Amino acid sequence: MQGTIERVLLSEETIHARIDELGKQLNDDYDGGQILAVCLLKGSMIFMSDLIRRLNMPITLEVMRASSYGQAMESSGSVKILQDLDRDISGMDVLVVEDIVDTGRTLAKTLDLLRFRKPKTLKVCSLLDKPSRRVISIDIDYTGFVIEDHFVVGYGLDFDEHYRQLPYIGVLKL
Ligand code: PRP
Repeated sequence: MQGTIERVLLSEETIHARIDELGKQLNDDYDGGQILAVCLLKGSMIFMSDLIRRLNMPITLEVMRASSYGQAMESSGSVKILQDLDRDISGMDVLVVEDIVDTGRTLAKTLDLLRFRKPKTLKVCSLLDKPSRRVISIDIDYTGFVIEDHFVVGYGLDFDEHYRQLPYIGVLKL
């Protein structure tokens, strides 16, 4: 499997240093409050677990699962909510944690759904942002890294469900 990674784009050290910074920013911004953190499965599992361990405020952790890629390398254009929240979020400070914003379709659909449920605030923290591929405009409140249009895997991101366990983010050899 290692042989199909063309190069390391973001090393484990680089990722962790940036998550330290994001954690500090979130601790400042939500000082005195609490967060309902929504992990968008499966890609953001690893990022979420590292991020919340840097946060000081009370957090409740929820999961949702949306899927746009299936087994393909391109976003299908139709996003399905495969698993929804099982609690009320009205009046809460909700932070959606995502691994990557590509076309923006997954987050657009997810945010529309969550907004409808009247949270007090609704913000987004994404480890990666690939703006060159955007189809739907998305406001990302906290961004780890802006990247070029490479197919990236590792640190939660997959290709056909593989590579998620890599501790770094690499460019897949196509
Ligand atoms: C990936 C990724 C984002 C989404 C981004 O999820 O985790 O959620 O695609 O793409 P978009 O901005 O073009 O919508 P995927 O559907 O592959 O599911 P996964 O998280 O289970 O890997």
